[in-house]
Amino acid sequence: MTASTLPAHIAIIMDGNGRWAVSRGYPRFYGHIRGAARVREIVRECRTLGVRALTLYAFSTENWKRPEEELSVLWTLLRKYIRREVAELKKNGIRLRVIGEWTRLPEEARRELSQAMETLADGEKMDLVFALSYGSRAELTDAVRKIASECENGMMKSSEITEATVEGRLWSSGLGEHSDVDFMIRTSGEQRLSNFLLWQCSYAEFDFPDTLWPDFNVSEFRKSLGRYGARKRRFGGL
Ligand code: FPP
Repeated sequence: MTASTLPAHIAIIMDGNGRWAVSRGYPRFYGHIRGAARVREIVRECRTLGVRALTLYAFSTENWKRPEEELSVLWTLLRKYIRREVAELKKNGIRLRVIGEWTRLPEEARRELSQAMETLADGEKMDLVFALSYGSRAELTDAVRKIASECENGMMKSSEITEATVEGRLWSSGLGEHSDVDFMIRTSGEQRLSNFLLWQCSYAEFDFPDTLWPDFNVSEFRKSLGRYGARKRRFGGL
């Protein structure tokens, strides 16, 4: 894969954990456990290939409706991931970021996430972004609120608002030149965006492999990247 056919920013909706588990007679949460192992592999692979940003939809604002038991497994897996991986992420120059209303997460998960972000703040090779309690409409609403308040305070005139003004107030703004998503993958055959990175995906290419997330190994990921490499991106031009 050459630099020109490799997406700089990949976003993944890791879907199908529950179906994977239930179809094998396991409780749903077991699918998340197996899914977390795939997170490790795909992060490593992205770093090896030279991807600049990887955003993973780990928890949506709608996911709060799930049973307490399932939520608690998700927070445990997140904390385990951080504890197990932070040294390797550091070694590999990976910066960790979180987008979403993650202050709603349980205190211990928040604390460990904050510590990990601090430890990894100087990573320059790749951004790993966890979308946690994330919703794109909430993100856009928050940006509108910030701009309105800047106008009210006389810091800006409404006539000065540009696309860059909005972009700079999105939760993803810290990604700088890589804030636009190049390639969006949703596993499990569902073909929806589900309130994920609506603004950032304006010119993204999409891939919807049937594979459920716990089966989405490096070889499946490379097949997705191959499909991306075969696309012609015109950004509205000819
Ligand atoms: C969607 O599958 C998946 C989630 C809501 C959670 C994704 C979480 C992980 C992969 C593990 C988290 C670990 C880390 C390290 C971030 P689903 O449960 O909606 O599946 P279904 O559509 O088959 O029910």
